[in-house]
Parts: sequence; structure tokens; C-alpha cells
Amino acid sequence: MANQTMQHQCSFCKRIINVRDQYDLPIYDPNTGFAICRNCIKEVNHFLEEHDAAQVQDEKQVFAGELDDILNKNKPHIIKQYLDEYIINQDRAKKILSVAVYNHYKRMKYGYQNDDGTEIEKSNVIMLGPSGCGKTALLSHLSKLLDIPFAVTDASSLTEAGFVGADVEVAVRNLYYAADKDVEKAEHGIIYLDEFDKIARKSGANNSITADPGHEGVQQALLKMLEGSVVEFTSRGQRKHPEAPTIKVDTKNILFIVGGAFVGIDDVIAKRLSKTSSIGFGAEIQGKDDKPKFDELIHKVRPEDLMQYGIIPEIIGRLPVICTLETLDEDALLRILTEPKNAPVKQYEKLLAMDNVDLEFQEDALRAVARKAIERKTGARSLKGIIEDIMLDVMFDIPKSNEPRKVIITKACIEEGAAPEVVKK
Ligand SMILES: Nc1ncnc2c1ncn2[C@@H]1O[C@H](COP(=O)(O)OP(=O)(O)OP(=O)(O)O)[C@@H](O)[C@H]1O
Ligand SMILES: [Mg+2]
Ligand SMILES: [Zn+2]
Repeated sequence: MANQTMQHQCSFCKRIINVRDQYDLPIYDPNTGFAICRNCIKEVNHFLEEHDAAQVQDEKQVFAGELDDILNKNKPHIIKQYLDEYIINQDRAKKILSVAVYNHYKRMKYGYQNDDGTEIEKSNVIMLGPSGCGKTALLSHLSKLLDIPFAVTDASSLTEAGFVGADVEVAVRNLYYAADKDVEKAEHGIIYLDEFDKIARKSGANNSITADPGHEGVQQALLKMLEGSVVEFTSRGQRKHPEAPTIKVDTKNILFIVGGAFVGIDDVIAKRLSKTSSIGFGAEIQGKDDKPKFDELIHKVRPEDLMQYGIIPEIIGRLPVICTLETLDEDALLRILTEPKNAPVKQYEKLLAMDNVDLEFQEDALRAVARKAIERKTGARSLKGIIEDIMLDVMFDIPKSNEPRKVIITKACIEEGAAPEVVKK
């Protein structure tokens, strides 16, 4: 009995199949006699695989075709023009970011069209600049322009796995959600890690690793991501446990931009410069009064300064483009008040216009606002607050009457808290 083979006909190719085991006739329904032989299954499988491969290729071609459009729309000068509408000064940073994004698209196109093994390396960017000079603002405006997913993650919220806080995977998860849960899209997105200086080893380069385990661990975990690895995470709201389904995203082609104020980095740079030259620049900084300005120093930043600041060398090596932003002076702050599309003064003008009221900020009033902001040492950040303080009473009192009027904000309003002039139109 054991040697006796059964015979069935394949319903598909009509051949008579000697069935020794189930693999000869993988599909067989004894009730109806319907059967498909292994040959037919193999052939269908082969056919399907070819079709799928062609489809993936087609999709890639379509995407690569779209990339031509995207590239055309996102030439560096076009991106910069857009950023110019919102961000005052910081021309170099705008240029660097525009080129970085454009090259990122180009690298994508190259990757889709060429299988020759040549890889265009990505150029992750590190941005340094004083508080309130526009780092976060630049990136948030840039993100609105992009045709690829972009996610901002606050690096200061990240902790090493096992510590209280968010694991570094959160950065990739944010990108995955920015990509509407499309893994393929997420794998070509851009991650901005804000407040990156907050994960520096507090003790700087000299202290042992064990002095600051949390931050060292975060940096090590981020390094893996920067180098390109498959990051695994659970969906939002899902607690991490061994059986939880995970999503995997390869970070190999993700562009990383990191930014931070790096408070105190100017001292690190000054120290290095004073060591390397006993005359000239180094000598100049001996007296406290002629300490070189922050801006002069920051532009001289080198990878070793970042190391000294407490970023591990491997990470610095993965951030080849160093981009420094400058302190905003009085003129720049004045322009920020009035020029950008979303300038505070423009916003108040619009609000009051709805009450049929004109608003005029006298130039020396605006200067006084800028000077106040400079005193507060938080860059452009405090501008809004200062203006809001003055405008509160105006916004409260003006709607009491429907009469068309003009409100004039003078220097005295800013400096002495004088009431604004209100005249009939
Ligand atoms: N160069 C600029 N042009 C126009 N607006 C600016 C500029 N810099 C800052 N601002 C305004 O000031 C606010 C604060 O700036 P932003 O959050 O970008 O500072 P930051 O550089 O990220 O500082 P921090 O290091 O403290 O995070 C922004 O919301 C923006 O409106
Ligand atoms: Mg910021
Ligand atoms: Zn068959």
C-alpha cells in the first residue's frame, strides 16, 4: 500500500500527476476533485513575482518622474526665496539648508535610477546659533515647503532606553507619522533634532563616560540612527512590550539636521584660539573687555570644539555640514517686527483694520522695542511679548467705539509706558 501512488489530474494543465506526497499536488479538494499541480503553482508564482518586481520598478519610475518636478520646484534659490519671506538675515544658514534639501532630492533621484553601486553620501547638517536667532523658525518654515515628510523632535526630551522619557526611536516615529504611515516615504524624509546641545555630556569631553550615563547613551543611540540602521518602534499610544507589533524604518537615506544654541561654545572656541596663538587673535582676548564678539567666534567653530562641548566624535563625524547663525542686531530685530509675512506689526495692523482703525508704529518706537529685546538677550523671541504688552490696552480699549481712528505708538509708549496717541481718521 505504501508504494502505491495515487493519480489525479491537474485541473489547470490537465496533466495526470502521480501523487507521492502533498507537495506533488499542493492544492487538492477531495470533494470536487479540483487540483493544481506543483508545476502550475511554481509557474504562477514565478509570473506573480515578475509582475510584482515590474510594478515596484514602475512605482519607482513614477516617483523618480515626480522627483524631476520636485527638483525643478525646489532649486536652492527658490527655497531660499521662500525662507526670505519669513526669516530675516541668516543668509548663510538659508543657503546651506536650501542646498542640503535640494541635494537630498537629487540623492533620492540618483538612488532610484542607478544601481551602479555608487552612493551619493548624505550631508547631515548641524546648526549653531544664539537663542532666538531663528533656528527653530527656519526649520518650521522649511518644513511647510517640502514635498517629503519632515519631523521635528526635541532632542532634550530624549533619553536612553530604560530612563524616564522618550527613546530616540521617537524621532523616527514622528517622521513615520509625518509620512502618513508610509514607510517608504519616511525612509526618504528629513528629521530635525532641535535643542541638540541639550544631549551634550554636561561635563564636556574630559570627564569619564560614567559621569553622565543618560546623555552618553542617547548619543550612542542617535549615532546608530545617523549611521543608518533599521529602527523599530511601536505605534503611538502602544506600550512597548515584547509582543507589541512594531514598525521598521531604515534610516539609511533619512537626512538629519540638528540644531541648538550651544550656550558657552564661544568660550570653548576662544580658549582653543588663545591656546593655538599666543599673539594675534589669542592675545586679543586676554582682557575681558575686548573679548571677541560671539559672532566672530561662532564662525570659527571646529569639530573639536563640539567634542570639547560634549558631543561624541562619532556623531560629529556624521554631521559634516556645520552651519552657524548670527546674533540679530537692532536693525535685524526692527526688520523682524515689520517685514516677514507674519511680522507682529503686520498682524496687529490687520486686527485693528477690522475695527476700522489704522495702526502706526513710529520708527523710534520700533527701535525701542528692538533695544528692549536686546537687553533681554533672547534674540527675536521677546519681540512678540514686548509688543503684546503694549498692544493689550489698545486691543482692549479700541473696540469700545466704532469710530474710525488711528492709533500711533510712540517711543514713549515703549520706554515709559505712555498711552498711545489716538486720533480721528
Ligand atoms: N531671523 C529671524 N527672522 C524672523 N523671525 C525670527 C528670526 N529669528 C527669530 N525669529 C522669531 O523669534 C522667535 C524665536 O526664534 P526661534 O524659536 O527660531 O529661536 P531659536 O534660534 O530656535 O532659539 P533657541 O536656541 O532658544 O531655541 C521665532 O518664533 C520667530 O518668530
Ligand atoms: Mg529653538
Ligand atoms: Zn498543472
